[in-house]
Parts: sequence; structure tokens; C-alpha cells
Amino acid sequence: MKALLLYSSREGQTKTIVSYIANQIQGYMKVDLYSLDDMPNVNLADYKGVLVGASIRYGHFSKTFKAFIERNSETLNQMPTAFVSVSLIARKAEKQTPQTNSYTHKYLLSTKWQPTICGVFAGALRYPRYTWLDRVMIQLIMKMTDGETDSSKEVEYTDWEQVKRFGSDFGRLIIK
Ligand SMILES: Cc1cc2nc3c(=O)[nH]c(=O)nc-3n(C[C@H](O)[C@H](O)[C@H](O)COP(=O)(O)O)c2cc1C
Repeated sequence: MKALLLYSSREGQTKTIVSYIANQIQGYMKVDLYSLDDMPNVNLADYKGVLVGASIRYGHFSKTFKAFIERNSETLNQMPTAFVSVSLIARKAEKQTPQTNSYTHKYLLSTKWQPTICGVFAGALRYPRYTWLDRVMIQLIMKMTDGETDSSKEVEYTDWEQVKRFGSDFGRLIIK
């Protein structure tokens, strides 16, 4: 049996987080790792468990991610699954649970998917890589939430120990 790890990522932070977990799991079983933007046709029933990661952009997870989940929620609900939610607001400790991170909470209320486990992770701030408009908008969001506003900066807020713990939890769930 093998595990399926999927991500929807714009600047690459969710890809890096899900790839980190893929490396952890690879020690125990075969892993297929794909971007939801260009994944081949797979049969979910071939997998022992599925992990899906997605990031927040202007308050929403990507359409690709949401469409994949809606298409497959019934199958996903019959197997061990994990949801990896990535956003900048999750850099704040009090916004790091599925209940207290409003994006994650709202999404989970809106979908039929009931992931077995859900992790809320802080992403990265990469001002120099954004378009002018995105840079200004993110500066505004960061200002409103007491964050970094120096637009020359790149800051990674992801807590890798938290990612590692979540990867181990997912591993325990599927390696039985
Ligand atoms: C244009 C843009 C809009 C964003 N909007 C939000 C937001 O509304 N709330 C939030 O917490 N983070 C927001 N973020 C932060 C991203 O979720 C964060 O940078 C994450 O690491 C992106 O992951 P990715 O590189 O996998 O797409 C935004 C980032 C960008 C570039």
C-alpha cells in the first residue's frame, strides 16, 4: 500500500511543508506526491491514506483544492485523511487550531469532507516575490495584524517541529 500527498501552493510554502511530511512517510511506505494543479488521474482507493495541503490567498483556499475535495469527499471520508491548512495569520499561536483559525474553521463547516486530522500551519512572507499590488495588500494585512511590514523582507514562520509532529501523527494513522 502507499500514501497520497497532495498540495495546492502559490509561492511554494505548502509544497515545502507537504514535501517534508512526504519525506517522513517515505521511510515507512511508498508515497505519491503531486501538485493538485497537475496531478495524474489516480484511483484514491489504491491508497492507505491521503493528505491534502492548501494555502490561503485573500481569505480563501484555492478553487482547485476546493473542487478536488468536493469531487472526492465521499471516498476521502472512508479512509484516513489529513488536512494541512497554511496561512500567515497562523503565525499567531492562538490561530493555530482548526477551531480558532477562522479560514480553516469556515472551510470545514462548508465541506462534506471530514478529515481525520487537521493541522494549521504558519506559512511564509515573501514580499520581494509578490506583484506590486499583492505586496501593498499584504503589507496592509500585516499592518492590521501587527506583523512585518518591511517589503524587502522574506520571513518563514513555519514551525518545523509542529510539521514533524503532524507528519508523525499522519504516519501513525496510516501505518497500522
Ligand atoms: C496575494 C496573497 C494573499 C494572501 N492572503 C492571505 C490572507 O488573507 N490571510 C492569511 O493569513 N495569509 C494570506 N496570505 C499568506 C499565505 O497564505 C502564505 O504566504 C503562505 O505561505 C502561502 O503558501 P503557498 O506559497 O503554498 O501558496 C496571502 C499571501 C499572498 C501572496
